[in-house]
Amino acid sequence: MCGIVGYVGPKQAAPVLLEGLSKLEYRGYDSAGVAVMTDEGIVVKKKKGRLSCLSEMIDGGAAIHGTMGIGHTRWATHGEPSDTNSHPHLSNSGRFAVVHNGIIENYLKLREYLTKKGFEFISETDTEVIAHLFEYYYKGDIIETMIKVLSKVDGSYALGVLCADNPDSFIAVRKESPLIVGLGEGENFIASDIPAILSHTRDVYFLDNNEIVVINKDEVKIYNTDREEITKEAYKVDWDISAAEKGGYEHFMFKEIMEQPRAIADTVSPRIKDGKVVLDDISLTADYIRNINKIYVVACGSAYHVGVVGKYVIEDMVRIPVEVMVASEFRYCNPIADEKTLVVLISQSGETADTIAAMREAKRRGARTFAIVNAVGSCIAREADDVLYTWAGPEIAVATTKAYSTQLTAIYLMSIYFGQELGTLPKEKIAKYIKAIETLPQRIEKLLENKGDIQYIASKYFSAKSVFFIGRTLDYAVALEGSLKLKEISYIHSEAYAAGELKHGTIALMEEGTVVVALCTVKELFDKMLSNIKEVKARGAVVIAIAEEGHKEIEEEADHVIYVPKCDALTMPSEVVVPLQLFSYYVSSLKGLDIDKPRNLAKSVTVE
Ligand code: F6R
Repeated sequence: MCGIVGYVGPKQAAPVLLEGLSKLEYRGYDSAGVAVMTDEGIVVKKKKGRLSCLSEMIDGGAAIHGTMGIGHTRWATHGEPSDTNSHPHLSNSGRFAVVHNGIIENYLKLREYLTKKGFEFISETDTEVIAHLFEYYYKGDIIETMIKVLSKVDGSYALGVLCADNPDSFIAVRKESPLIVGLGEGENFIASDIPAILSHTRDVYFLDNNEIVVINKDEVKIYNTDREEITKEAYKVDWDISAAEKGGYEHFMFKEIMEQPRAIADTVSPRIKDGKVVLDDISLTADYIRNINKIYVVACGSAYHVGVVGKYVIEDMVRIPVEVMVASEFRYCNPIADEKTLVVLISQSGETADTIAAMREAKRRGARTFAIVNAVGSCIAREADDVLYTWAGPEIAVATTKAYSTQLTAIYLMSIYFGQELGTLPKEKIAKYIKAIETLPQRIEKLLENKGDIQYIASKYFSAKSVFFIGRTLDYAVALEGSLKLKEISYIHSEAYAAGELKHGTIALMEEGTVVVALCTVKELFDKMLSNIKEVKARGAVVIAIAEEGHKEIEEEADHVIYVPKCDALTMPSEVVVPLQLFSYYVSSLKGLDIDKPRNLAKSVTVE
């Protein structure tokens, strides 16, 4: 995710900003920039690439003179990584400089509006509208302008804004994107994350949504959007720097598990407008979709597992046959793909060698390619015919969690969109599915609140030798992911099976104490799963069941039951995967393993 730092005090601002941004590098970024208030007005310097490139350009900060400024590390969302798209963004007159984390959902409309008013846009970013809105509404009062701007933008944001008319103070605000204020002696800071300011102060304010803060070196004033002043209690940070990088959590994986509600909301909400799914950047027409005779979903590892869920979802909503394939197989299997075939590629990094090769093979055969990618500007994003971005932000733990969840979300969005364009989905169903994905973040929050129950179960079985995950249809698809998660970070042997397939051989492995995680959330197959549980219990297995709330009868068969909130069947995988991620996490933690960097694995597999 992007990083923000702001400073006002007696020191030269640019070196302080560079140092603060360096503490946020762990979050991942593709460009960096600073804006400093100088005697000649606001000076902006920004550069694509590592922070060291920016630092070199401004001589470690010494090249810009001024004691107040804002800085940013950007993880591209709207527009590829480039010097121009990096932050800060200036308004046309240069009076305002803005850094922004989050997504402005209505930026296209605002861009159009401001263009008509004569504003010239230089970048492809959503952020630039903020700089121009400030310019447009400014009548000499910065707080008033901020309130006006906030009333015009939808979405999530943490903003830091310099105004050339105010050489001693700057203004900031947040909504759904974190921002803190650091309180120093004769100096004050803002930051999107604690590590950025921890070497200067441990006293911070955590801003709430839509709290506006005006900061000078001696004073911090906070207002609500009615311009009433708010008093806040300062919080003393007692974490060390490495805990702070992980948001106070012990591991990035856990932090990323906890970030899932936000990541899903960021992926969904900009794409829902007036009760419809709107995919602005997609050029596929209804005519094209109508002529598709087959969809391939091609990916690796967890992204492939998203495809396995995707097959059920796409076929149900769109009624086009789907084949799911691991990318390393696709290119060698002489796939039947032509100009009527759509090949959907799923990748967090957008740089996975096998998926890239599969994409090129699909294109060679004349197929159209549609990528679901997290890293903006990555190879797959650049080369695919269409890209639907998952706005999960950077994922640092090797084992994917929030990227997997947002990829699932992208599959729902894509399927609803296709069904909507083709007319295969009636209006009521579209409304039902949209509601299901819009409310998903709340249900996942609820699951995360019950993490203690899963930790308890993990504490009973973390020394298991072998764990089986079983389920049917969509549950089977999630079982694949649950099993991969466990083996990659806990090194426990694990397999995922379609529950009905067990009796064709694998049940021979069941013995006293074998752990079986039985996913039982598919309503019409619930009784069949009860029978499968009985089968494995009869051979001595211990069963941890996952079931939808209300299915109490399962308690008679399983040793432990984890309940997930009721929801629409097609979106249930997004819920079921959460306890499985937590289970793997806690097992690995109890075994004392290197959770974020499991042995033999790399975050991005760029070789065949
Ligand atoms: C497992 C995991 C991997 C990736 C796979 C594809 O937790 O992260 O299985 O899903 O290597 O990577 P991307 O999505 O970057 O193509």
